[in-house]
Amino acid sequence: MKIFITRAIPSRGLELLQQKGYKVTVNPDDRVLTKDELTTALDAGGYDAVLCLLTDKIDAGVLDAAGKQCKIFANYAVGFDNIDMKAAAERGILISNTPGVLTDSVAEHAFALMLAAAHRIPESDRFTRAGKYHGWEPMLLLGTDMVKKTLGIVGLGRIGSRVAHHAVRGFDMSVIYYDVKRNEDFEKEFNASFHENVDDVFREADFISIHVPLLETTRHLVNAEQLAMMKKTAILVNTSRGPIVDEAALVEALKNKTIRGAALDVFEREPALAPGLADLDNVILTPHTASATEETRQAMSVLAAENIIAALEGREPPNVIR
Ligand code: GLV
Ligand code: GLV
Repeated sequence: MKIFITRAIPSRGLELLQQKGYKVTVNPDDRVLTKDELTTALDAGGYDAVLCLLTDKIDAGVLDAAGKQCKIFANYAVGFDNIDMKAAAERGILISNTPGVLTDSVAEHAFALMLAAAHRIPESDRFTRAGKYHGWEPMLLLGTDMVKKTLGIVGLGRIGSRVAHHAVRGFDMSVIYYDVKRNEDFEKEFNASFHENVDDVFREADFISIHVPLLETTRHLVNAEQLAMMKKTAILVNTSRGPIVDEAALVEALKNKTIRGAALDVFEREPALAPGLADLDNVILTPHTASATEETRQAMSVLAAENIIAALEGREPPNVIR
């Protein structure tokens, strides 16, 4: 069996594939392959499985290049908006993702962003390094507390639920949430309340954390209108997918102090940032690293490999997406 990996990833999954006796080829350049390079590599290789990343756009052309012997594209991510699922289904190619193993890392990162925005950590760090600290001051860099505030979770999947857990158990926060489906067990466990209309979450929350997948129905879920509904003191955090937030509208809202602040791990046109975003002091930016811990990236590598092995052994991959 021959496996193609579109870019070097942590080693544990590769080792599992090699232990199976599979021939593993990794893109030798540590960069994203262009569409042409990817189709050429797949077309020439006759691979039985492909391990791809969220930076690879897997469309009908790429799937066709992989050929009829190819059983699975295992995405090294929980999100799979980079893959044309319909085209894969039509070709009988399985698609898998890496849920679960990254829940804690992403939830921690979302929480770290919320804390950092509330307590103005990056801004304070820049201030101190710049030699501007000349002694304690009663009014210096005043932030805001998280304790007992209202957290709005938009998208109550594994990650959103974990963020809610930290908020309720660690910070005595109240949780309100929106999701396409209600979860009464969650409500009981965390004394949370469901809002059927997402706008009510935007209106009422002090902190808003986005955890929905990117779909046609979630694109620009946060736009100028929603930003205007939010409290002037609200802090918005996005660790899901960039296009869920209208980034140009967010820049305007942050400039005009329509909301207090934002923290983003994902961007509308990655790796580009909306004009003016990086000039603002009331936004925190991280480069799509919410799952980037040593433990999690290894666990994702193992899970992607396990999905490939199952598919090639004729079993149902544990994380097949339908
Ligand atoms: C990262 O964004 C992922 O979907 O795993
Ligand atoms: C993603 O894994 C989620 O369920 O939030």
